[in-house]
Amino acid sequence: MSDATTRPGGPGRRILVTRCLPPGGTEPVSGHSLVGPKPDDAPYSHDELVALAGEVDAIVCLLTDRIDAEVLAADAGRLRVVANVAVGYENIDLRAAAEHGVMVCNTPGVLDETTADLAFLLILTASRLASTAESDLRGGRWKGWGINEHLGADVHGATLGIVGYGRIGRAVARRAEGFEMRTLHHARHDTGEPRYVADLDDLLTEADIVSIHVPGGQQTHHLIDSRRISLIGATGVLVNTSRGSVVNESALAEALHDGSLFAAGLDVFEREPEIHPRLLSAPRTVLLPHIGSASLATRTRMATMACAAVATALDGGIPENLVPPPSE
Ligand code: DGY
Repeated sequence: MSDATTRPGGPGRRILVTRCLPPGGTEPVSGHSLVGPKPDDAPYSHDELVALAGEVDAIVCLLTDRIDAEVLAADAGRLRVVANVAVGYENIDLRAAAEHGVMVCNTPGVLDETTADLAFLLILTASRLASTAESDLRGGRWKGWGINEHLGADVHGATLGIVGYGRIGRAVARRAEGFEMRTLHHARHDTGEPRYVADLDDLLTEADIVSIHVPGGQQTHHLIDSRRISLIGATGVLVNTSRGSVVNESALAEALHDGSLFAAGLDVFEREPEIHPRLLSAPRTVLLPHIGSASLATRTRMATMACAAVATALDGGIPENLVPPPSE
């Protein structure tokens, strides 16, 4: 899938592209010399990133690449911009980037609808126990239509609690309208819009289905802990397509095992790609391998956007998708 190859001696600057991008993704930087990815698309080790960072003007990376202070300090003043092919950027040390005068860019806006589609897929699949039902069928455990088999929860008419009301949360809310759901939302700051719920606990108590759309990082770490899972309750469904760190996974797994939460749909995990063993064995649980933005069109847009930001920065401009440096 790569169109990024090592082309030393090209006319422009040197750009490290850490992984194979979808076809056409590196087009905006085609006038520069691209370093990487590895021929087998294996990730660069941290040591390799540190070594390469000193030899390039820009890095195009994925959320699985740790761009920490050591990588950013290795550049000796050469590195100008790091563009993450993701909207999240908790893999990049923003403070160290600011200290070293390195711009950081992400890919906001281009993946909202695709991610919202997947959140809705998880809302439907988890609520209707579709994953369990399919696995029973494939595993030869389906003995014919049964009036008490695979009884899920209705999505239409249910109350959906959206935690985090940015672009993706709103895109999920739009989809919910078509299912005649009642939608509540919670955000750190009052949105001033109808059905804003200031107290997260109130939203969790009132919602039948909860969908998480907050960014990862320290501020949201274990925002959904065991106490808050208990507020969603034994008939409730929890869906997470944001970051695994937002939900305490072991508390979630226990709630699913003991029936104090009805069902869950997860696309993100605390220690990807490791999955908590109690989640793997949890009933009524849909687990997907972080595919929220994974359509060819969207991943191509993300790659192109990240590379366009690099091209702009190397031309001396300020990319639109610049992540603001930390305030203090
Ligand atoms: C992101 O962009 O941060 C997603 O998690 C992957 O698309």
